[in-house]
Amino acid sequence: MSLSEGHAKRRCVTLHMVSSLDGFIAKKDNSVSWMDSPGSVYEAGVSISEEEAAAFVKTIDCYVLGSRTYEHALELGWPYGDTPAIVVTRREWPPARMRKTIEFYAGDLKTLVDVKLAPRYRNIWLVGGAMLCQRFLELGLVDEIRLTIAPVLLGEGLRLFGGLLKEERWNLKNVVAYKNGFVELLYSASSTSTC
Ligand SMILES: NC(=O)c1ccc[n+]([C@@H]2O[C@H](COP(=O)([O-])OP(=O)(O)OC[C@H]3O[C@@H](n4cnc5c(N)ncnc54)[C@H](OP(=O)(O)O)[C@@H]3O)[C@@H](O)[C@H]2O)c1
Repeated sequence: MSLSEGHAKRRCVTLHMVSSLDGFIAKKDNSVSWMDSPGSVYEAGVSISEEEAAAFVKTIDCYVLGSRTYEHALELGWPYGDTPAIVVTRREWPPARMRKTIEFYAGDLKTLVDVKLAPRYRNIWLVGGAMLCQRFLELGLVDEIRLTIAPVLLGEGLRLFGGLLKEERWNLKNVVAYKNGFVELLYSASSTSTC
């Protein structure tokens, strides 16, 4: 077994997305208020404190995102702190749009995951958007899907996994219902996943 294969076995790529009930991840105008949670409380649900959320985020070793998601994240106020992030893009970026913790990457995605990232990071979070996630799924590079369903119908927008994926069964690992009406579903690609 080569060194890169050994590392590749230990990495865990988690695809994380927030979807509306009707399967959209973004509105046409890119507004994000639909991800807020005013309104009814689901009494049987759980809530997590800011400290718990911060401790969880600390377990993430790096983020991977497509360039459109990157641009939107910059507009909203960078949410990934100082955790390393890799932006997949074939464009040249002006220095003003760069941050110290960010690397730009334009090559093959399997090489990105198994050669560039796996030796350095175990918990790799793929955080969008639809185009990049679709490509990762097609290439079999996703170990876990962590899908958060927001309690809202959007009617139109950008589809979660809009392209042509082949039929593939995933294994449900966990379900968490939150007081704010959001539900988080965790699936793994393999029933014996060590993610
Ligand atoms: N609801 C959620 O959880 C969630 C999460 C993330 C994003 N979003 C939303 O989704 C939208 C963006 O998603 P999107 O699907 O339009 O775009 P995206 O996946 O974020 O970015 C697409 C871009 O990534 C680069 N790219 C993708 N695949 C590549 C490959 N194989 N090789 C090289 N570069 C590649 C290209 O960049 P270049 O054109 O620069 O070469 C491409 O134009 C935004 O509205 C964002 O807010 C929602």
